[in-house]
Amino acid sequence: MAVIEINHPLIQHKMTYLRNKDTDTKTFRENLNEIAKLMTYEVTKSLPVDEVIVETPLMKTTGHVLQDKAIAVVPILRAGLGMVDGIVSLVPTAKIGHIGVYRNEETLEPTYYYCKLPVDIQERKVILVDPMLATGGSAIYAIDYLKNAGVKDIVFMCLVAAPEGIAKVLQTHPDVSIYTAKIDQGLNEHGYIYPGLGDCGDRIFGTK
Ligand code: PRP
Ligand code: URA
Repeated sequence: MAVIEINHPLIQHKMTYLRNKDTDTKTFRENLNEIAKLMTYEVTKSLPVDEVIVETPLMKTTGHVLQDKAIAVVPILRAGLGMVDGIVSLVPTAKIGHIGVYRNEETLEPTYYYCKLPVDIQERKVILVDPMLATGGSAIYAIDYLKNAGVKDIVFMCLVAAPEGIAKVLQTHPDVSIYTAKIDQGLNEHGYIYPGLGDCGDRIFGTK
């Protein structure tokens, strides 16, 4: 489908805090969720709505409401959790699933450890969330998993994406659009995105 880089000045401003190695955990978390919220406006642009009649203090008119089963948000654990509050603050009716996949630090291969999805996930558009798209292994694993669970409409939302990861996801899953706040230069020899922002999970949870 497409790669959409959401180049908004507010996002760029907040992203600079995330990149700064001296940013503390609280500020990091706050800015990450704020970016997720700003990105949600763009990611949800084509959500289906139903027409309803609404009565204003003056007269009846037509309004639009999100369809009941519009969205499920699925963060890839752990770091994806850092974007969930920002998204659901705008779409509070979203159901939330979780997929646990971590990257083996030596092989860079995705390793699965957990999954719990809403029972009606097949009927929903899924926003799969992970701040970092590096080699693409974790995202591809999660998309495969969701498709095997019957999901038909998936968008992938991340904060920073490496061109290598984008190419791999689009090649494997051409039907999935990727929304990112920034496409970075590439991957270093350890599979880290550069300039990037380091290990996002560790920075969100203060584990390093
Ligand atoms: C990070 C990140 C992605 C993955 C990206 O997670 O949050 O899930 O690496 O790398 P890839 O595109 O090469 O697969 P990590 O494995 O560090 O786990 P964590 O979220 O638990 O820290
Ligand atoms: N995971 C991260 O948290 N950061 C990277 O740069 C790559 C993978």
